[in-house]
This record gives sequence, C-alpha cells and structure tokens, in this order.
Amino acid sequence: MLAALVVAAVACNAPARRDAVAAQADAAYAPRADGRALDVPALTALGRALFFDASLSASGRTACASCHDPAHAWGPPNDHAVQLAGRDGATPGLRAAPSLRYLATLPAFTEHHFDNDGDDSIDAGPTGGYTWDGRAGSAREQALLPLLSPQEMANGSPRELLERVRRGPLAARLRQVFDATVLDEPERALRAVAFALEVFQQSPAEFYPFSSRYDEVLRGRAELTPREARGLALFNDPAKGNCAACHLSEVRPDGGLPLFTDFGLIAIGVPRNRALRANSDPSFFDLGLCGPLRTDFSDRPEYCGRFRTPTLRNVALRRVFFHNGVFRTLEDVLRFYARRDTHPQEFYPREAAGRVQPFDDLPASYHGNVNVEPPFDRHAGEPPALDEAEIADIVVFLRTLTDADLVRPVANR
Ligand code: HEC
Ligand code: HEC
Repeated sequence: MLAALVVAAVACNAPARRDAVAAQADAAYAPRADGRALDVPALTALGRALFFDASLSASGRTACASCHDPAHAWGPPNDHAVQLAGRDGATPGLRAAPSLRYLATLPAFTEHHFDNDGDDSIDAGPTGGYTWDGRAGSAREQALLPLLSPQEMANGSPRELLERVRRGPLAARLRQVFDATVLDEPERALRAVAFALEVFQQSPAEFYPFSSRYDEVLRGRAELTPREARGLALFNDPAKGNCAACHLSEVRPDGGLPLFTDFGLIAIGVPRNRALRANSDPSFFDLGLCGPLRTDFSDRPEYCGRFRTPTLRNVALRRVFFHNGVFRTLEDVLRFYARRDTHPQEFYPREAAGRVQPFDDLPASYHGNVNVEPPFDRHAGEPPALDEAEIADIVVFLRTLTDADLVRPVANR
C-alpha cells in the first residue's frame, strides 16, 4: 500500500489508478488512531515547521522553503532558472519553482473543463492539477514528489524518508499532533507528514491573503494610477494583450476575487532554455502534459508542449519566468507575447541555412499545438500587438498584484 501510494505520487500512472489510490488514502484520513479530531492550529504549525525542516532531505541542507521562499510568495528566492538541490545539494532541477500562493482552489486535473460562467458548453480542454503539468492530484500527493525526487530532497526511498522523519527534530511533535504510534506505521507516518504540509499550505494569511492593491481596487477601497489603469485595459483588451483570456482579471461570477489564471494547460511555444543541464542533450524535450515527468498521456501528441497557466499574483517578485525559467524580466516576457510571431528571430535561433527555427523547444510535429490566438495572431511584417510603452504600462499594472505583506521599496524589486 505504501509502495502503491508512492508509485502513484511519483510516476502518476493512469488517472483511474490514481483515483483509487487517492480514495484509499482519503478513506484512511482520520489520521489519529483514537479517532479524535486533529487540533488544526497545532497541525498547521507542525506543517510550517516541516516546510522549513532541512533534515528531511538527503543533503541535510534542502527544505521545501529553500525553493519556495516566503519572502517571494513561496516562489524561488533567487534568479536561477532552476534550483540546485539533490543528494549533493548541487544537482539542478528541470523546471522553475512556482509560487505556492493562491493554489487553495486549484481544481483537480481534468481533460475536459467546462466553465460555470457564461457559455458552459465550451470545452476549455485540459485544466488543473498540481505542478506545471498537472500531474499531482492534491497538495499532499504533491508533497511526496520533492521529498523523493533525486533533484530535490532526494530521499532514495519512502523508508529512507521515514527514517529521517523518525530521527528528525519534529518526531515528538508529530506524535503529539497525531498520536503516539503514528511514526510506527510507515503509511500513516508519511501520510501524516504530507497532510500536515497540505494543511499548512491552506492557511489563508500565508497562502491566500488577497491583500494586493488591485484587490483593494476591486473592493472599491483604492484606485489605480492612470498608468496602471492603462496597463489593465491593455491586459484585458482582446485585440491587444488579451492576457485576461487565460489570466482572469475580473471578479468571478460567484463573487470571488480573480486568481489571474484559469488553470488551463496551454502550449505557447516558450523558447528552449539552453542553459538547463537536461537540455544539453539535443534530443531531450520537456513536453509538459505529454511527458516525460508526467507519464499517463505519453500517447497524446496533441498534448505535447502544454503547461499549466500560472497565477500572475505576486509575479513581480519573481526573477525567472515560464516553466523553464528562460526569461529574467517581465519586460522580456511581455516582448515575447507581443513579438513572438512578428519578430521570431529575437527569441529563437537560426538553422544552419540561416532560417529562424520557431518553437525550438518542441519537435516540429507538435508545432500545431502552439496557441495562435491574440496576442499570438500576428505575422512577420505586421506591427506587434504591443509597443514598448504599452509593454511598460502592463508591467506597471502587474506590480499592483503583489500582496501587501510582500511589497518592498521600488529600489529593491
Ligand atoms: C529543489 C527545489 C524544490 C524543493 C526543495 C521543493 N520544491 Fe516544490 N516545486 C519545485 C518545482 C521545480 C516545482 C514544479 C515541479 C513540476 O512542475 O514538475 C514545484 C512544485 C510544487 C508545488 C505545485 C505548485 C503548483 O503550482 O502546482 C507544490 C504544492 C510544492 N512544490 C510544494 C513543495 C513542498 C511541500 C516541498 C517540501 C516537501 C517542496 N515543494 C520542495 C521545486 C522545489
Ligand atoms: C492562451 C493563454 C495565455 C494568454 C493569452 C496569456 N498567457 Fe501568460 N501564460 C500562459 C501559460 C500557459 C503560461 C506558462 C507557459 C510555460 O511556462 O510554458 C503563462 C505564463 C506567463 C507568465 C510567467 C509567470 C511565471 O510564474 O513564470 C507571465 C508573466 C505571463 N504569462 C503574463 C502574461 C501576459 C502579461 C499576457 C498578455 C500579454 C499573457 N500572459 C497572455 C497562458 C497565457
């Protein structure tokens, strides 16, 4: 059973199998042996302590917080495209670490998503799930991925992880919050760790405060500057940025504040990051939804190149962008959106014959998967969807999405 849980979490086999395992895990979710309810504040505090506990890693140096830094909205603390961790503390990962804010309402992965606003007959396609390719069904399933990944916390096996938990500084607290025998039973012990991490990641003040200036504007308690308002208009305008088509910016029909993502998995043709170690092999491609980290859709060519749309809340705190961390500034990201098709030579290399090779991080047979809706509806020779002044205005607007507890003086941004 432990093996099944871990195999499903790590390799993420067929969804049916994952559901069965998740159901089994959930059935066992009254985690105290005596059946008493858990003390939620104590569980949250334990989850927080586990999140910062580097003794859970093989190197003894990597905690969840090493890659998910509270000062950066639980995103990467530095400008490395991918973080260095693993057994030696120096092994590069494959993807940029996402922010962990605003995931509390992330829907479970589905291949067919129907919106409940406006026209609900439109199939928006693959949507939801944790990680850039949506392969983890819940935060507790997700938590086991880094704990066991050789590039991250690098426990060689669930047993090795269990030993670290038993010897670690939080063993006594785990027994206190769950019960005296929780660490004696391997499945229950790992579930307790994953569950505490999940509950911590659902604490509103730390993970979804909705305290940005834009939230205050939506609540009618603040106003955008004229420049920010211009940026927002360009962000929403279907003929200009059209950003809001995927990064939803308006109050939802249920009254909820917008998350700046519809959680859809979309291919936008992000350039190959040649600095990544995995990419030194020219035949290696991170194709997102169709693999190789995700394995249940490797026979679905139409899914290759798709990654989950990230939230843009707190995006101004990031110093690397997109799943492979290929861009370093928001201006560069915006230029990519505006000029990908009008000036492809600015983003993609040339073949030996001198022709620009677009979408160089996708084998040619998948190029048809790449999105061509605005702002990606232009052609070489036409003006880009956004000029430099408009790009600057959108960037100014994006800075209004930083939560109040993380706003820093402009000079330090
Ligand atoms: C070495 C860096 C590193 C460490 C350590 C790490 N993560 Fe991550 N985290 C990542 C990366 C990279 C991703 C994206 C993975 C992918 O798409 O395959 C990620 C994704 C996630 C996600 C999914 C976010 C989303 O948008 O779907 C969650 C949740 C998460 N991590 C929580 C944790 C927890 C909990 C721990 C500790 C047990 C942890 N991480 C440790 C780098 C790290
Ligand atoms: C068709 C859907 C779609 C549209 C339209 C769109 N985006 Fe995105 N956005 C995505 C997806 C998907 C990703 C992740 C792509 C990847 O990493 O492969 C992304 C990533 C980003 C990122 C990187 C965030 C991070 O955490 O790395 C930024 C910034 C961004 N988009 C801003 C914008 C802006 C500004 C616009 C309008 C000019 C826009 N997007 C339009 C789907 C879209």
